Amino acid sequence: MRMYDLIQKKKQGKILSTEEINYMIENYTNGTIPDYQMSAMTMAICFTGLNDKETLDLTLAMRDSGETLDLSGIEGVKADKHSTGGVGDKTTLVLAPIMAALGVKIAKMAGRGLGFTGGTIDKLECFPGFCTGISQETFIKNVNDIGIAIAGQTANLAPADKKLYALRDVTATVDQMSLIASSIMSKKLASGSDIIVLDVKTGSGAFMKKFEDSRALAEAMVKIGTMAGKSMAAVITDMDQPLGNAVGNSLEVAEAVSALSGMGPADLMEVVYALGTEILLLTKKADTGEKAKAMMEECINSGRAKEKMAEFVSAQGGDASYVWDVNKFPKADYTEAVTADKTGYVTGIQAEIIGNACMALGGGRETKSSVIDLSVGILLEKKKGMAVKQGEPLAVIYGNDKEKIRKAHRQILSAYTIKDNPPKEEPMVKLRISS
Ligand code: URA
Repeated sequence: MRMYDLIQKKKQGKILSTEEINYMIENYTNGTIPDYQMSAMTMAICFTGLNDKETLDLTLAMRDSGETLDLSGIEGVKADKHSTGGVGDKTTLVLAPIMAALGVKIAKMAGRGLGFTGGTIDKLECFPGFCTGISQETFIKNVNDIGIAIAGQTANLAPADKKLYALRDVTATVDQMSLIASSIMSKKLASGSDIIVLDVKTGSGAFMKKFEDSRALAEAMVKIGTMAGKSMAAVITDMDQPLGNAVGNSLEVAEAVSALSGMGPADLMEVVYALGTEILLLTKKADTGEKAKAMMEECINSGRAKEKMAEFVSAQGGDASYVWDVNKFPKADYTEAVTADKTGYVTGIQAEIIGNACMALGGGRETKSSVIDLSVGILLEKKKGMAVKQGEPLAVIYGNDKEKIRKAHRQILSAYTIKDNPPKEEPMVKLRISS
């Protein structure tokens, strides 16, 4: 078999066999196939596409390119939740302890933030001492003992995807549905859970800006997971403005803890309940959406969800006293309000710009090795649909460097659109897809 022939075949829109896809991934991972041939292939895929079978074959070949997590030591059904990434998205920090408190086993591999989006692993590291690099043994023990463990992705999980994603990133071949779906699902399938619930974001702060693209991606991933024998569901949720009010690591953790105390912002809770409902239905802990929501509300109101959060933080070496007193998180040296330059209604907040403003403050990563400042961020005082008077604060910046604050200030102001009339109300949860 020659890579040249496979590129030619795909360029002509022909279908690659399982053997051909396996050959390509195996030899790209071990370095026999060079980057220039693989980039010709990904470009050919961008133009002629992959069918469902090829997409599944590509996913499984990338899943099997490295180690897969063996969760057979965990009793019962294991659930995982994955978000395609957004700004202010602290859903996992709220959802995971609620699910664990309701008896669902949460065994999750999470990522760090890159670019304007945040990552769960960075947020968890806001708890002093919290270890995201726990051994597989501790991971399994924690899930068995307390129902939850969240760890950083191991280096050898789907290495083919790691290499291919880096190549796509520099060859303008990221935005192809089958390539994105297989990339995400190869890592999810390698992480071993039985149930996978996907939060596919749509809007200005999402990877997929258009609803129809988000829907196609969600359907493709649900199909792949189902064909690979997993119980799957996806919800498409709004990312046309940041989720919740807090953007920035410590600020987001504090907001997540407040949500576990029953004081979560409405948009965040809607996403948490939508994803939680899918998990409770798939695990058969609830038989209707109404029952699932009532169970989650009771779990929060009784204090069990917050207690589970403290137990989880402590089990991974973190200081759980921060769960009981969020004022302990380190504060940025300066705060500065961004005020409205006119009276009206907020009709839009460009999530990507807010994410970039947080990055400008030092709260995000330009490259994988950047060191981030966990204390900086932005608290949004006004969200879409709210009335605002000229001079009133739209947002408050938390920063440690006056020059960076000045830059973030300009960005935040430019992210807001204020008009005379309120915008049309949009649902947070736009669509549910199940297998
Ligand atoms: N996230 C991934 O893991 N892969 C993609 O291709 C896009 C987003």
